[in-house]
Amino acid sequence: MRLFAGLTLLIVLCASAALAALLNSGVPVADWISNPGASFMLTLGENPDPVQLVRPAAQPLSAMAQLGKQIFYDTSLSSSGRVACASCHSSQHRYGPPGDSAAMFGGPEVTSQGVRAVPSLMYLSTQPNFSIGPDPGGDDEAPVPLPQLAALGHKAKRVTKTAQDTSQSAANLVPLGGLFWDGRADTLQIQAMGPLLSPYEMDGGSIARVAAKLQAAPYANGFTQLFGKLIFQQANLAVSEALFAVVRYQIEDPSFHPYSSKYDAWLEGHARLKPAEMRGYELFNDPAKGDCAACHLDQPTPDGLPPLFTDHQFEALGVPRNPQLAVNRNASYFDLGLCGPYRTDLANQPQYCGMFLTPTLRDAATRQVFFHNGVYHDLQHVLDFYDFSVTRPDKIYPRGADGQVETFNDLPKQYWANIDRTDPPFNLQVGQTPAFTHAEEQDIIAFLKTLTDGYGQPETLASASSTTAP
Ligand code: HEC
Ligand code: HEC
Repeated sequence: MRLFAGLTLLIVLCASAALAALLNSGVPVADWISNPGASFMLTLGENPDPVQLVRPAAQPLSAMAQLGKQIFYDTSLSSSGRVACASCHSSQHRYGPPGDSAAMFGGPEVTSQGVRAVPSLMYLSTQPNFSIGPDPGGDDEAPVPLPQLAALGHKAKRVTKTAQDTSQSAANLVPLGGLFWDGRADTLQIQAMGPLLSPYEMDGGSIARVAAKLQAAPYANGFTQLFGKLIFQQANLAVSEALFAVVRYQIEDPSFHPYSSKYDAWLEGHARLKPAEMRGYELFNDPAKGDCAACHLDQPTPDGLPPLFTDHQFEALGVPRNPQLAVNRNASYFDLGLCGPYRTDLANQPQYCGMFLTPTLRDAATRQVFFHNGVYHDLQHVLDFYDFSVTRPDKIYPRGADGQVETFNDLPKQYWANIDRTDPPFNLQVGQTPAFTHAEEQDIIAFLKTLTDGYGQPETLASASSTTAP
């Protein structure tokens, strides 16, 4: 009798432990019913559908890329003699900013503060060109001018983006792609000219001055070997080849796209997610919770390309103004993203004001500066923003002198209609229960940490040889 009672107790205990594990996993009940096998594997932290990811083939750097690497680290190209690409895009910090300042400093005395947070240079080699809509025409068709596309996009109905239905939103006639927070440069090469000459960055002065410095650099020999003896007689060409070399470095060096996170290993069936990471993954994909994957795509493509955690589209999230940016001391200054002030071709398209490019979340957990204006310094605050910006704005935005909460205080009111209020978790109203709890925020953060490269490697991020300065 006693044995029987003991056995019953044991069975009840086991069953409730199993049930607790099941509920603890965050796998939605509906999934348990529709696909119990896969749900069970997810509960164990395992991927029920492992895939073979296709990674860029690792090859020794070409001569061009090696030259580019030297240029990337060359501080002599700056007017101060102290700033290189790598000063802001630090190899020890996943090619992002080396600290937590909202923006980095450059200029002749390295005292001019930049106007935006430094993005990481990782995972950019497959960034699509800037366009409006999925594909504005075949290769042989005449390209439709941007203003015309913008007008079309303005009229087209926008589909709500949810993590469960990203194929539909991919067909949205919305701006996407390009480089910089406002997509204003198409290629890495055009892009690099900006910082090289910008008075807030390397402040190179003029093309002629930069070319003269290239000629005086220790790698000038490599330059003439690749481009011929006459290269330095044409300053424009020399600088443009230098920038091309920097791009080859970013494309060829595996440290810019290692795809070596725990999540990549999990996708391939080589790693098991911990319960908190698994719950975070479910919340990240649940349209009724985080819905993060609607914009930060997390599934491999059908041909096995690893997910980039961005749909490359632009969105206005209405992030709070950052008082730490010097430019923001001017109360009438606003960074409007797509419609200016740094890109000018869409200045007359007010429907895009306040929109910024969706960044990758790979390695985001290692950053100390978040969003285009660097307003946040940890993921906790970022998650609070997603949870409370519409439901409890008093937790996110400051109060003005009159005691009123200054909602969306980094965007003039006439553009508030552009702020995303349709895609979850932004589809709620003031005072409604926020989409996720504090504990769920922690789970999403645990998941974001699985996107950090270098999983299972003794040294973080690829090999030391490819990341240290020459
Ligand atoms: C003083 C800091 C600084 C220096 C030096 C610097 N950058 Fe940047 N970089 C930035 C900032 C800030 C942005 C974002 C600017 C924006 O969105 O308007 C950026 C953006 C970029 C981007 C676009 C990234 C993206 O996600 O769209 C690339 C590529 C880039 N820089 C490459 C370079 C190269 C190559 C060099 C050297 C020639 C360089 N940078 C030097 C600060 C710097
Ligand atoms: C509607 C599209 C959309 C959804 C949904 C979305 N994001 Fe974002 N995310 C963006 C855009 C756009 C930015 C850049 C905004 C800016 O800087 O103004 C961004 C920026 C971020 C950043 C900062 C990265 C950096 O390098 O500065 C993090 C972290 C982030 N998102 C995490 C999440 C998480 C977690 C969720 C789910 C709770 C989520 N996002 C849902 C579009 C989205």
